[in-house]
Amino acid sequence: MQLSQDKATAKPKSGGALTFQSLHPLFVAEASAIDLRTVEDQATLKQIHNALDEYAVVVFRDQPFRGDEQLKFAQRLDRNVNFNSTTAVFLGKGRLGYEGMIDVSNVTDKGEVWGANDRKRMSRMSNRLWHTDASFQDPAGRYSMLWAKTVPPVSAPTEFADMRAAYDALDDELKKKLEGMHAHHSSIRNKEILGFDLSLDQKDMEKLHTADHPLVRTIPRSNRRSLYIATHVTHILELPVPEGRMVLHELMEHATQRQFVFRHEWQQGDLVIWDNRATMHRRPPFDDLKYPRELVRVTTLDYPESAHA
Ligand code: OGA
Ligand code: MN
Repeated sequence: MQLSQDKATAKPKSGGALTFQSLHPLFVAEASAIDLRTVEDQATLKQIHNALDEYAVVVFRDQPFRGDEQLKFAQRLDRNVNFNSTTAVFLGKGRLGYEGMIDVSNVTDKGEVWGANDRKRMSRMSNRLWHTDASFQDPAGRYSMLWAKTVPPVSAPTEFADMRAAYDALDDELKKKLEGMHAHHSSIRNKEILGFDLSLDQKDMEKLHTADHPLVRTIPRSNRRSLYIATHVTHILELPVPEGRMVLHELMEHATQRQFVFRHEWQQGDLVIWDNRATMHRRPPFDDLKYPRELVRVTTLDYPESAHA
């Protein structure tokens, strides 16, 4: 079919509607204005995949999501949403009412800011440790999409670290040593570190996840090597436990040095999409007993891709 001249010139040459502006020397970009609720065409979705391959974290401003529109967009971008979040095991059914949409807020079901000893607060405390989402599942998390519904009047950012740049910066001897190693990830390891009261019944214990993943992986399409670590890791399969934990501790210190880190200050309506295979993230502390901060997350799973390879 021949496009009319008007239609052919209405879009940039790449075939998609977007341009990207870099926000950090190593990773992270901001996308030009777009309403993701209306994005269905393969050309634009492919542009977003390409941007994630290159930048690993992409910021979209002013997304006026309602209901399950964020979930629907996530399914257009990457089909396999994680409907099996551990959050439900610790905290029960969320207040958002859609499976697959995770309430990342400091607000109770009654809409009030949580109290100091709230179980939800204790559970969410682990977001302050560097991690990558759903690394304890197999397939693990691929893209996370976090949307800012309510932003407090004080700084309450999310920090991201580039695990590809962190890997590249390791010395050759260590790179060689890590080759072929696997880490054991557990959904309760980070909670144990913080002393979270895990008293769960047998039925819930069975829903918790563990998974083994290579410590270093190659990300398909970009072919970049990346460190795959998180505070969910209990040990390295090929090493004695203390030695493995020491290696992890040192990798964690290395990978989260300031030059690898970007701090995103939220504006209401931001949707930040990141590639969990290429990054870690954490929430720095803020006055969470005073100001409501409401984010909503959808995470997709790292099934092999064919549709947009
Ligand atoms: C998450 C997460 C950090 C934050 O939703 O997966 O880690 O800043 N959030 O709330
Ligand atoms: Mn997270």
